[in-house]
Amino acid sequence: MLLAYIRKTGRFAKIAIAFLLVILLGLIDYYTTSEVSFSIFYLLPISFVVWYAGKWYGVLFSVLCAVIWFIMDSLSPHIYSNPAIPYWNALVRFGFFVIVVLLIWKVKSLKENLEISVLQRTKDLIHETNMHKQTKEETIAINDRLRELNKTIETIKEEQNTRIAREVHDELGQSLTAMNLELMWISKKYSTNEDLVARMSMLSGLVGDTINTVRKISSDLRPRLLDQLGLFSAIESQLKDFTKRTSIESLCSFPEQEVKIKGPASTTIFRIFQEALTNISRHSGCKFVNVMFTQPDEHLLVMTVKDDGKGFEKSASVSVKGMGLLGMNERAHILGGTLEVISSPGEGTEIILKTPI
Ligand SMILES: Nc1ncnc2c1ncn2[C@@H]1O[C@H](COP(=O)(O)OP(=O)(O)OP(=O)(O)O)[C@@H](O)[C@H]1O
Ligand SMILES: [Mg+2]
Repeated sequence: MLLAYIRKTGRFAKIAIAFLLVILLGLIDYYTTSEVSFSIFYLLPISFVVWYAGKWYGVLFSVLCAVIWFIMDSLSPHIYSNPAIPYWNALVRFGFFVIVVLLIWKVKSLKENLEISVLQRTKDLIHETNMHKQTKEETIAINDRLRELNKTIETIKEEQNTRIAREVHDELGQSLTAMNLELMWISKKYSTNEDLVARMSMLSGLVGDTINTVRKISSDLRPRLLDQLGLFSAIESQLKDFTKRTSIESLCSFPEQEVKIKGPASTTIFRIFQEALTNISRHSGCKFVNVMFTQPDEHLLVMTVKDDGKGFEKSASVSVKGMGLLGMNERAHILGGTLEVISSPGEGTEIILKTPI
């Protein structure tokens, strides 16, 4: 309490307190006589004054204490064998006091330097943290912009796909159908020429195959069902085709109530679903696929694509291997949703897309 009060007082008040302490010590020194060595207690005001008022005040107080000690010693009845001894003793004490002054001053400087370095380091750390925060914010902003760009690219790509799909289907498809009709007409007209009929029939078969290929290309570019009947029908139809093509059994289920999903979002969900199916046929070696759409609440749609195949170990190298999972993730972000891949060797794979609607 007293120390806290003294610490708060001004510099000269502290010097005055130290001075009074020296006088008090001088009196005690006088009354305890020179038989009792008392000089060490003078270090108290000296240290105090060095700490709070500076080195030179410390030296000044060393002189003062040595002089007071000398006076008190002279007043005592002690007889020395040589009259120079008290002077010598006073000088030795003064030297001792000065050494203590220098030591305390050194400690104080070290403490102050340490405080300055700590302060500087703290400032640097704050600066570094701010810089780091700024860089992080910039990275987030760049990522956001990249995501926006991705979204635009996806939209443009889908629009182009739709246009090309329509042209391929309408122009090429119609021309090929007309070609087939012509071939049939020629076959009928020259039905007596067996050789020609055989060639025409082969040609008609080829044209038929090309029509199917054109339909497949057109549907891959833009599934017509998606625009005509909506997401769930397109998924159902795609899954049926998948089972036919791969002999992998499948099952799908949808929410009972109708879910309204906007055009671009339904395309994005459909593309994620397509990549999941492609991965299943390429990597899983499974026998069964379950596709489930649920709506836990009115703002959320969940798509789960689960296979009972060989699964895989999720690691950084997996996402480096191909673009599929990465693309699915990006598309989920474009939707403002999340994509979770649950898989482990021998345990099959489950893709869970959660998207706001
Ligand atoms: N359903 C699955 N079953 C087993 N392994 C899978 C399945 N889906 C993905 N994988 C594993 O994850 C890896 C990464 O898949 P991803 O779709 O990213 O790339 P990819 O299919 O190899 O190539 P890309 O899709 O770019 O043509 C695959 O190579 C495969 O090892
Ligand atoms: Mg893939």
